[in-house]
Amino acid sequence: MAIIAPSVLSADFLHLGNDIEMINSSQAGWIHIDVMDGVFVPNISYGIPVVKAIRKATTKTLDVHLMIVQPERYFEAFRNAGADIITFHHEASVHLHRSVAMVHELGMKAGVVLNPHTPVDVLSEILPELDLVLIMSVNPGFGGQKFIENTYRKISALKQMILATGKNILIEVDGGVDLTNAGKLFKAGADVLVAGNTVFSSADPENTIAKLLALA
Ligand code: DX5
Ligand code: ZN
Repeated sequence: MAIIAPSVLSADFLHLGNDIEMINSSQAGWIHIDVMDGVFVPNISYGIPVVKAIRKATTKTLDVHLMIVQPERYFEAFRNAGADIITFHHEASVHLHRSVAMVHELGMKAGVVLNPHTPVDVLSEILPELDLVLIMSVNPGFGGQKFIENTYRKISALKQMILATGKNILIEVDGGVDLTNAGKLFKAGADVLVAGNTVFSSADPENTIAKLLALA
């Protein structure tokens, strides 16, 4: 089943509660929360207290995307704050297998994120252990960037790898998703689409979420 995950990076932080209420009443399945440390990516966003606040305001699945170095240092803190899913970058992980196991031991779903330059083949040995893979369709760090077209190819290749495992591993796509490419992304094999700018800069965000989902 297709899922839309609005990214609160593009929300109105002064009135975050209103935006969470909008998501609650929408057809969004997950809430995507981007955590940036200013080291792994050239931007700083928000962290544990914001996840905790959002947790109190929603029963939707909290999908926490860690764009930080040594992400394993913070898995437990994000779990305690209310994260349901943790995704962290292949490019930031030295002991990825151990980190995936840590996320599972903490009772969360685990996903690995690939930057645009990282081939899907690097996941061949770890794939059966994962609940999802997040393919970046922009370089991480900022909302509102231009979608990278090579993403379709990566999704198709990853889909083949997943089918070979015989397991239900979701493909999530993050960055530059809009009403012109969402249908094609679902068709290529994406299960979850993250959308920040497209949702929050639209006149009717709830309706935009419905429109994105209808493209599945
Ligand atoms: C980028 C983040 C994205 C971002 C997507 O580093 O990982 O989740 O919020 O924003 P849009 O949909 O505006 O490209
Ligand atoms: Zn993200």
